[in-house]
Amino acid sequence: MKILLTGRNGQVGYELERSLQGLGEIVAVDRKVMDLSDPGKLREVIRTVKPALIVNPAAYTAVDQAESELDIAMCINAEAPALMAEEARKLGAALIHYSTDYVFDGEKAGSYVEEDMPNPQNAYGRSKLAGEQAIRSSGVRHLILRTSWVYGTRGKNFLRTVQRLASEREELRIVADQFGAPTWARTIAEATAHMLVKLQAQARAPGGRLIPDEAWQDHAGVYHLTAQGRTSWHGFTQAIVGQLDLPRKPGVAPIRTSEYPLPARRPQNSVLCSDKFMQAFCTLPDWESALRLCLAA
Ligand SMILES: NC(=O)c1ccc[n+]([C@@H]2O[C@H](COP(=O)([O-])OP(=O)(O)OC[C@H]3O[C@@H](n4cnc5c(N)ncnc54)[C@H](OP(=O)(O)O)[C@@H]3O)[C@@H](O)[C@H]2O)c1
Repeated sequence: MKILLTGRNGQVGYELERSLQGLGEIVAVDRKVMDLSDPGKLREVIRTVKPALIVNPAAYTAVDQAESELDIAMCINAEAPALMAEEARKLGAALIHYSTDYVFDGEKAGSYVEEDMPNPQNAYGRSKLAGEQAIRSSGVRHLILRTSWVYGTRGKNFLRTVQRLASEREELRIVADQFGAPTWARTIAEATAHMLVKLQAQARAPGGRLIPDEAWQDHAGVYHLTAQGRTSWHGFTQAIVGQLDLPRKPGVAPIRTSEYPLPARRPQNSVLCSDKFMQAFCTLPDWESALRLCLAA
């Protein structure tokens, strides 16, 4: 059975292409093969591949740029997933889609659960929420996995920026009043694979769909999927610098969000509670262990 995977060169897409091996025939595409801003191409690729499952980690992820490019962000994060959902439903296929902690406003004291009311504070968050809503209202069998503060060994991410700056500067000044859970892209991909194995194992009869209908009845919907624990960007930076092998390590000074103004407003607390995912599918590592593994990789 075919799995159509988007965004194969992204942080999560790259890891998914490896983690999903063995679960089906993976057809992994990039922007050149399937540009999400081209509805005709999107439909054409889906109709040609005829997947049993679409896994969509591709997204417009430039949070600050989205403030001045809302149309493009909406096109890729909302309209393209809506179209994928429509095409998947027509084929009888399912859709796994990724979303973000930035759908929340950050005002909650504790961690956010799936039932909490979204209230995005920036254009990126609004576009991702619109994507979630389009998928939910399409009637397609779906799972939406919200994650946070994604980093990895490739691409542009906070870990790689800190690694570079740590060897160039004597001091790093990092925001200490925003809280979240840094999550390794590989954790997300491996947890997705575990989830699929578990869903497939629910088959009451041999054969049939990639994921049996009973599994969808029991498990479809939104899940939070992040590393466990919480920290600030400052705490994350201290942990990264602490593990770097450098002759001279820079100091890490805490600053307030107001001292580092950016175009997009960030939630102050975007810690997501992943208990629902862990109860249904598999445990998730704490952020510090995952960071150690990522740096070792
Ligand atoms: N990064 C984070 O901190 C973070 C936090 C919370 C949630 N998320 C969510 O997690 C998911 C995965 O994020 P990520 O960190 O893996 O993102 P990423 O590394 O930025 O990768 C995004 C991928 O989407 C592709 N893409 C963008 N525009 C496209 C278009 N028009 N047509 C086709 N492909 C396009 C990119 O292609 P190119 O390589 O060609 O640019 C890239 O491969 C996304 O849904 C994101 O919203 C991310």
